[in-house]
Amino acid sequence: MTEFYSSSFEETLEWGEKIGKQLRPGDIVALNGDLGAGKTSISKGIALALGIKDDITSPTYTIVSEYDGEIPLYHMDMYRIDGIEEFELLGVDELLFGNGVSLIEWSERISEYLPDDCKSLQISILEDGRRKIILKGINL
Ligand SMILES: Nc1ncnc2c1ncn2[C@@H]1O[C@H](COP(=O)(O)OP(=O)(O)O)[C@@H](O)[C@H]1O
Ligand SMILES: [Mg+2]
Repeated sequence: MTEFYSSSFEETLEWGEKIGKQLRPGDIVALNGDLGAGKTSISKGIALALGIKDDITSPTYTIVSEYDGEIPLYHMDMYRIDGIEEFELLGVDELLFGNGVSLIEWSERISEYLPDDCKSLQISILEDGRRKIILKGINL
């Protein structure tokens, strides 16, 4: 487990790049944190490290956004998934076992698909506005 802090969007982006450099095809990372904590911001940094040129947007209204880079990125949001059946029906499970990196918001909704030692990233907003980021399973 690693813990670090970010005082700005730019700093969060840099942490995202550092994290992205450690990721390999097939890696799954659960992204946790409240709305506005910085999940999309850190995902933008991860995307930069994977050689993705497209802008990463919040996937709230889409279940999966796919981005092409040196390693493909699947940015997933399980908030609107109505049970594991829908997840399987949409074929999202296939992506998890593919050659891309999967970043998953609301990952607890599909916990039965995730490895017990799933990599994860928890972002929280401190009283002074800084972000505290806790990484599990990823060494920087
Ligand atoms: N240290 C910080 N890290 C990330 N975002 C920050 C930080 N400080 C302020 N912000 C702002 O907070 C918002 C985070 O939004 P976003 O990354 O979309 O959050 P989420 O995807 O978790 O809902 C952005 O508007 C960003 O500019
Ligand atoms: Mg977001």
